[in-house]
Amino acid sequence: MRIRAAVLHRPGQPLSVEEVELDGPKAGEVLVRVAAAGVCHSDVHLADGALGEGRWPMVLGHEGAGIVEAVGDGVTHVAPGDPVGFSFVPSCRACPACLAGRFNMCAPAGENGARGTLMDGTSRLHLADGTVLQHGLMTACFAEHTVVDAHGAVPLPRELPLWQAALLGCGVMTGFGAVRNVGRVGPGDSVCVIGCGGVGLQVVAAAALAGADPIIAVDRDPAKLEIARRRGATHTVDASREEPLERVREQSGGGVDHAFEVVGRPETMRMAWEVLRPAATAVVVGLAPAGVEVSLPAIDFLSDKGIRGSYYGSGDPAADLPQLAQLAVSGALDLAEVVTHVTGLDGVNDALERLRRGEGARTVLVL
Ligand code: APR
Ligand code: ZN
Repeated sequence: MRIRAAVLHRPGQPLSVEEVELDGPKAGEVLVRVAAAGVCHSDVHLADGALGEGRWPMVLGHEGAGIVEAVGDGVTHVAPGDPVGFSFVPSCRACPACLAGRFNMCAPAGENGARGTLMDGTSRLHLADGTVLQHGLMTACFAEHTVVDAHGAVPLPRELPLWQAALLGCGVMTGFGAVRNVGRVGPGDSVCVIGCGGVGLQVVAAAALAGADPIIAVDRDPAKLEIARRRGATHTVDASREEPLERVREQSGGGVDHAFEVVGRPETMRMAWEVLRPAATAVVVGLAPAGVEVSLPAIDFLSDKGIRGSYYGSGDPAADLPQLAQLAVSGALDLAEVVTHVTGLDGVNDALERLRRGEGARTVLVL
């Protein structure tokens, strides 16, 4: 079928919203009419070519939701008409990582994701002249329709508006997973969240729901700190005016139990390390461009501190997404307050520009 999609032809250029060809779903795949897609900073990295060579031409977009239109042979967990959210790690359930319960580290999903294909190693997307297009993070949801692997289409409750449900597939999954699966934040724990964009604001909400106190939100943009307060931050630090390290130490009585880095820069990764109390752990959620290194004062290892990464919430998207959706349906998790801009597919380049400028939390494209 012919669909409109936002195509990255070459990094550094604006995405081109144009007609492309989408083949039907093969066995084990699902055709979805995309209803809404969030624009995430990882899309900026891809658009800028910061995640490595060869990731183009590609249809971008990895945080979205829609309605199933058709299913390939063997797909039984969803049917046409069902609302679904996308998971960009459609875990195979059979590789060593999956068998060990590390579904976010599924090896075939990682390989195919890096190649821009679905799990069978091929693409359903091409230009009219036959040029093969990569599926951005196996999701390619800056498009009217997409084909995803069965485990990449996760059923969602009908009550949740799809423009809100879209956020589950990256920001919510990533942010909540970092807090619950990695930090294992508990009641009364002190938390510092560095970077309160579309993902960091989900970290703040997850920490608040876990009963953390204080929750110190750090950002350079006062507008985002305001949203962080509404989501449960007890203290805010404007890094454009204040010295964040001093302020966080002061507000936490010497250092926090958990720090979450949700920016993707070496200086904020180091900050996450430095705001810790002894024996506490920093979780790096932010994605830095390929080749970036981070340095830490080695003497600090004497204080039992730890630092670790978290990719896609370090959980099982197929199981976690519906649970997180229930949190939103129950009213415990407000998704709407993170959405600062709503636009159509043609607004995608403006949305990427806003992320580059650090303006606004999430833009949702409504298709
Ligand atoms: N100190 C504090 N905050 C900062 C700093 C800094 N030095 N630099 C940038 N920020 C803030 C920005 O103001 C913005 O609010 O970090 C936030 C980043 O948020 P977004 O640009 O909205 O990015 P988001 O989509 O949330 O992704 C964050 O996680 O998944 C990864 O690739 C993604 O690395 C990115 C990170
Ligand atoms: Zn993302």
